[in-house]
Amino acid sequence: MKETILITGYNGELGSKTLKKLVSMGKSIIALDINDPIEKIHSVSYIKDTITNYQLINSIFKDYHITKVYHFAALLSQTASQNPELAFEINEKASKNLIDCSYTFGIKNNCITRFFFPSSIAVYGPTKIENASEQDIIKPTTVYGNNKLIIEEYGSKLHEKSLSKNVGLDFRSIRFPGVISYDTVPTGGTTDYAPQMINNAKKGKKFECKLSPNTILPFIGIDKTITSIIDIMGLKTIESKLRVFNVQEASFSIKELSDFLLRKFPSFQITYNKDKNFQSVADTWPSSLNCEKANKFWNFSTEKNFEVFIKKIINK
Ligand code: SER
Repeated sequence: MKETILITGYNGELGSKTLKKLVSMGKSIIALDINDPIEKIHSVSYIKDTITNYQLINSIFKDYHITKVYHFAALLSQTASQNPELAFEINEKASKNLIDCSYTFGIKNNCITRFFFPSSIAVYGPTKIENASEQDIIKPTTVYGNNKLIIEEYGSKLHEKSLSKNVGLDFRSIRFPGVISYDTVPTGGTTDYAPQMINNAKKGKKFECKLSPNTILPFIGIDKTITSIIDIMGLKTIESKLRVFNVQEASFSIKELSDFLLRKFPSFQITYNKDKNFQSVADTWPSSLNCEKANKFWNFSTEKNFEVFIKKIINK
């Protein structure tokens, strides 16, 4: 049977770009999403369904030789807080089921299924820390952060179990900060103010910010995000017990971003209307991430310069 990749949540910000990249690499792909494809790619087999359809997931693994899984289907932080039960079903239960299938069918097929899980800075808390490394205090205060942490641990545990048998699951995960794209403006997340603010400034629209100007959070651009996913999944092995890695390109306050946008787009207007649902979350997430482990184990490198980072995004 032909080696096939399964990608879930392919219509989302990360999923859509990862899918395109994998297509350009000539891979055989099954793409699953609850919505129809926004743009259809001829060589991709699309399935419109939910990842909570366990019978379907099982039949995908039975009917195809799935060797890699990119699992993007999820509810983001603010949406998860508003729908904790659904977040549990999607972010936790269905993710565990996908990991279980990857592990079980890996054993059945006498191979190792490589599994990518996008985790998040939401696993940190309860207080804001600087230069957070992977093992730093991790007591998430949000539903979303808890969902992500449980899956990080679940995947890492099955990975370790697979190591001794040399079949099963190879779990790889990246803890993403806020992601900024050129062409999509996300909603449902706490870090979404940055892409939304940039988009409004470019279009000459006002922006009302739900967080205070001195809030600092880490970010990464979409190009680096996709390269990181492809890189970490492309390696034959990652010689580390640590399966979840931190990455970031720049860390900055809302004031730094708005000052920069005001210089570039002098008519841009920003107002502040603090929302405690947003501020209380941002205050528990790190202001910056330490990326030394990602650099050491899979060569992640970063520009570290706010102006270069933002200019690149705005000019694209
Ligand atoms: N960007 C995500 C959010 O704000 C965090 O991973 O929900």
